[in-house]
Amino acid sequence: MKLNLKFTIIAGIAAAIVTGATLTTLSSTPQSPQYVNLKVLPKNISARDLQSIMVDDFQDGLGVTCGFCHTENKDGHGLDFASDAKPEKNISREMMRMTLGINKKYFKVKHPLIGSNALVIGCNTCHKGQAFPDGDELK
Ligand code: HEC
Ligand code: HEC
Repeated sequence: MKLNLKFTIIAGIAAAIVTGATLTTLSSTPQSPQYVNLKVLPKNISARDLQSIMVDDFQDGLGVTCGFCHTENKDGHGLDFASDAKPEKNISREMMRMTLGINKKYFKVKHPLIGSNALVIGCNTCHKGQAFPDGDELK
């Protein structure tokens, strides 16, 4: 009997710990990163901020669609946004680093972030709606 009671108490404590752990995990889910392959943008960026960068700065800034940088899903439906298969995506990362660097070094923007209004130079400053601002695609 005594042993059984001991077991019940231990099991009860264990259950409480497990429940507590589950609750902690659940409540922290909304803040945990939802994107899996960000190397320049903040890993915990909100969906709203990421979408606005992809649409306003990248798509409209370069005059392209998402598929210019993002490869197709293997099943042919939609795009695999996390994949780095297309070289344009990594070139864009370099362009992002360059853009941040110009803002920081030459325009003294303290904490430059892609998509922020504080930037003096953005993708569109050079690109103006064209993927190749140097006219390379015409050659
Ligand atoms: C000019 C290139 C370019 C275009 C156009 C572009 N993207 Fe991206 N996208 C990137 C780069 C670069 C990253 C990774 C950024 C990083 O590493 O911080 C990215 C990351 C993403 C991610 C995060 C994937 C993950 O899980 O890591 C999503 C989602 C995404 N893009 C959606 C879109 C959508 C939707 C469009 C069209 C409206 C779009 N992108 C257009 C370059 C582009
Ligand atoms: C200081 C000017 C400048 C800024 C700012 C700039 N770019 Fe570029 N970008 C260029 C030039 C010039 C080229 C053409 C390079 C070439 O043809 O080799 C280019 C080419 C590209 C290409 C095409 C590369 C290829 O060969 O397929 C992509 C994609 C790109 N830029 C993305 C971006 C993104 C995204 C941003 C903003 C984060 C950005 N660029 C900001 C000047 C700029």
